[in-house]
Amino acid sequence: MTAAPDLAALDASAAWAWLMAELRAACGSARHGFHLFTVATLGGDGRPDARTVVLRHVDADRREIRFHTDARSPKAADLRRDPRLALHWYDPANRVQVRAAATATIHHGDDVAAAAWAAAQPMSRACYTSPTAPGTPIDDFLPAPAPPAPGDDLSLAHFAVVACRFDAIELLALHASGHQRALIHVRRHPVTWTVLAP
Ligand SMILES: Cc1cc2nc3c(=O)[nH]c(=O)nc-3n(C[C@H](O)[C@H](O)[C@H](O)COP(=O)(O)O)c2cc1C
Repeated sequence: MTAAPDLAALDASAAWAWLMAELRAACGSARHGFHLFTVATLGGDGRPDARTVVLRHVDADRREIRFHTDARSPKAADLRRDPRLALHWYDPANRVQVRAAATATIHHGDDVAAAAWAAAQPMSRACYTSPTAPGTPIDDFLPAPAPPAPGDDLSLAHFAVVACRFDAIELLALHASGHQRALIHVRRHPVTWTVLAP
């Protein structure tokens, strides 16, 4: 287990650079504690709903992270209704929690979706082959889907990239000597931060 970063030894720019490097590393490593994260959306009845997704892409300049989903899923419907979402990570190795309020853009049937589809692993594409939309009641558990054949446009039609942009992102680094919490404001460069009581 590695220690949490000592935010007191960093400034806002260094903390932002550290976070972006960790998130970039997490995109390519299923073992990284930031590879999976939680996305919370607002349902049609106004209730929050949360679920685990895989971090797929990080763009520091755009203040944006991306995940992939089924365009027919309830979370996609939530985001079409209200693009506000909450992002949450906790990496037990780094002992850091990360939170951000973000706004989603759903890329479906556009160049961003096509490029992500082309770069996706066959096993990842397999998640989008089902004719049955996620969340539909079914009679029995389904076997694992096979990857779609090359040129299977129906699966691509189910695939969406959700780009989540944020203006600020919060770190909470856990230390026995005193937890450290800071909200990094990333709209303008150099970035700044507000140190918060933990
Ligand atoms: C480890 C793990 C990784 C997951 N990754 C994704 C993902 O990247 N995209 C996604 O749409 N669902 C992913 N899921 C499934 C979601 O958590 C959720 O069950 C599903 O997308 C339906 O969510 P919804 O009904 O809120 O739309 C993952 C689940 C687990 C447990």
